Amino acid sequence: MSNAVFKVFLFLLLVLGAFLWVGHAITGLTGGEKKSSAVVEVTPEGGEAIYWGKGRCFTCHSVGDRGSAVRGPNHGEFGEKFPLSMGPRAAERAKERSEKTGEEFTAVDYMVESLADPGAYVVKGYKNEMAVVYAPPISLSLKEIKAVVAYLMVQGADADMAAIDTEPSEISARFYGRIAAASAAGGGDPGKGQEVFEDNCSECHMIAGEGEELGPNLSAISKKGVKFISESILRPSKEIAPGFETFQVVMKDGRKHAGLKTRDEGGEIDITKANGDVETLEKTEIKEIAENKDKSIMPEDLTEALTVKDYQDVLSYLVMQKGEQKGE
Ligand code: HEC
Ligand code: HEC
Repeated sequence: MSNAVFKVFLFLLLVLGAFLWVGHAITGLTGGEKKSSAVVEVTPEGGEAIYWGKGRCFTCHSVGDRGSAVRGPNHGEFGEKFPLSMGPRAAERAKERSEKTGEEFTAVDYMVESLADPGAYVVKGYKNEMAVVYAPPISLSLKEIKAVVAYLMVQGADADMAAIDTEPSEISARFYGRIAAASAAGGGDPGKGQEVFEDNCSECHMIAGEGEELGPNLSAISKKGVKFISESILRPSKEIAPGFETFQVVMKDGRKHAGLKTRDEGGEIDITKANGDVETLEKTEIKEIAENKDKSIMPEDLTEALTVKDYQDVLSYLVMQKGEQKGE
């Protein structure tokens, strides 16, 4: 194991330990809640326990006059600012989302979206600082999230349990997939992961039309699975994607070049280096050209630039790349 990889694993262990401890400490501190949620039912009551407990929704939200937090919108009917409780309000917002996206959003779809992708619709007058509740430290499971949706729907409306739980619409199913994928990737925050990607990876990789294509396009990388993706980041050279082999060229005058062979035509080849510079080389000037099967041009030391959190975040962002259009 290289030093960098070892360091990342060590950090992962430490972080995991810390999360477990913090989780334990928080549950201990906030005591008075209903039983801790090892087994949660997908019912409004199950969701109520999550809302006022493990989900920590109450640290930013209130429901009518229950609770005192004001950082996020009140989920009940409350004063002039909140004429509608969350159930009927979700139906109103769903109309806006349908217009904006061109897809038919139901009230449940809006609720699910607000938890799966909180940045997609930011309530007027508030900042985009709604927690990603399926990422650490809150780390709600899919089941817990469904329960919370049911609890919020019964604020002023009926909860369609089939739509929430067993027979989700296409839109909800897509968001549920996103939550499940993020949980499987260790519960990173895909929104932050996108920033990490833009800062560290997009100079070589493209997702949904953004970035460069020096390395493989990652728009549908999820189908290769979490394990493959995480190894590609931690040990780029372990398995080199076909068509992205590194070539090493020695010129007759002694100069050396390494990179991808991006053009081979007539008397010339192009070697594209890791920094994106292209060298056009005359074949007659080349002394030796060899494929290096052991070395990717993707940097091995990326993990040194990333914190463990960055790594988890970017991983969950990648696990979500299914190559489908979001319809926006
Ligand atoms: C760190 C503070 C914070 C936490 C924790 C938090 N939220 Fe939020 N939430 C916000 C803010 C701020 C907004 C408004 C901005 C936006 O729409 O993203 C919001 C918006 C929402 C909305 C949309 C409300 C509307 O009027 O359309 C819903 C629904 C919601 N949160 C549910 C939850 C649930 C359920 C939880 C717990 C599992 C939770 N939130 C935890 C801050 C938080
Ligand atoms: C200097 C260019 C460069 C940078 C920066 C870079 N990569 Fe790569 N990456 C490549 C190349 C080239 C390949 C193909 C060769 C290989 O498989 O190692 C690759 C392969 C991959 C693969 C496997 C793709 C497949 O289809 O097999 C993943 C996943 C990946 N990179 C993720 C990342 C992430 C995440 C980052 C940022 C943290 C990153 N890369 C930064 C150049 C780069």
